[in-house]
Amino acid sequence: MIPNSFVNLAKTCSAIFSLCMLLPAHAQTSHAVPAFKKLDSAEARVQGCVTCHGQQGQGTNNGYFPRIAGKPAGYLYNQLKAFRNGTRHYPPMNYLVAYLPDAYLKEMAEHFAAQKPAYSAQERPVLSAAAAARGHMLVTAGDPKKGLPACIACHGANLMGMEPGIPGLAGLRPAYVVGQLTRWKVGERHAAEPDCMKRIANRLTDEDISAVAGYLALQTPAANASPEPSNLVRMPFACGSQR
Ligand code: HEC
Ligand code: HEC
Repeated sequence: MIPNSFVNLAKTCSAIFSLCMLLPAHAQTSHAVPAFKKLDSAEARVQGCVTCHGQQGQGTNNGYFPRIAGKPAGYLYNQLKAFRNGTRHYPPMNYLVAYLPDAYLKEMAEHFAAQKPAYSAQERPVLSAAAAARGHMLVTAGDPKKGLPACIACHGANLMGMEPGIPGLAGLRPAYVVGQLTRWKVGERHAAEPDCMKRIANRLTDEDISAVAGYLALQTPAANASPEPSNLVRMPFACGSQR
């Protein structure tokens, strides 16, 4: 009797053991398939975004797809709502977020705002000395004769943006910056009223736009920098996005 039950116990034990041995191995393989820890997590939800924006929102080698990592969450959320509501146009973005509720958009915005990946390789546009000087002047001092404030007054001394609604301009590619400023000028991109960027874009000539986009692309982004805290006093114009 005793030896028999001992054998049975041993059998059960080894059965349990091999089951236990199998479990971690199985768990490991199922972990290896998705790169994120939980299926129902922000990481999992943004998998549809990373082919164009990079795994952590750092951008890709594509000359147009923008870096979204580290921009203020309020700014990213406003853009996602604008794409969903059709006030900002880019068909793939419009389709992707068309049916997503506010809470979902907010979660994705917070996810990318919290990422601080390294900057992807920069495009180094060739600028004439005159364009480089004009770009430098507009970004750091503005042009009082045209009623143009310095970009850094709102976008931050290190171009990382300002909480809660102003994006960083560091690491954006020239084609993207030219595209956005031109859209504001022609009335295709809108922000909450008063739309300060519309006032600014309206005062920029096409030459100004390419000078500023080229100059921005040539700046080395500050590593690990964050958007500045909100500072309404320093802002030269009121912006609806900062409310
Ligand atoms: C097919 C490529 C593609 C996919 C997939 C994609 N995006 Fe975009 N996204 C773009 C492009 C291109 C723009 C710039 C559009 C424009 O010209 O206004 C953009 C703009 C944005 C912006 C505004 C950026 C800014 O600085 O103003 C946010 C935020 C954003 N995308 C988030 C997401 C999220 C979140 C997902 C996943 C749900 C996603 N994107 C999926 C290509 C893509
Ligand atoms: C008075 C404040 C203010 C000033 C000055 C300002 N901006 Fe902006 N900018 C904003 C705000 C607010 C937004 C976000 C608007 C929105 O919600 O879409 C923005 C957005 C942008 C964007 C879109 C970035 C993206 O990721 O899509 C670009 C490009 C830009 N600004 C360029 C400039 C340039 C270049 C200058 C200087 C010539 C400038 N801005 C000066 C407030 C300002």
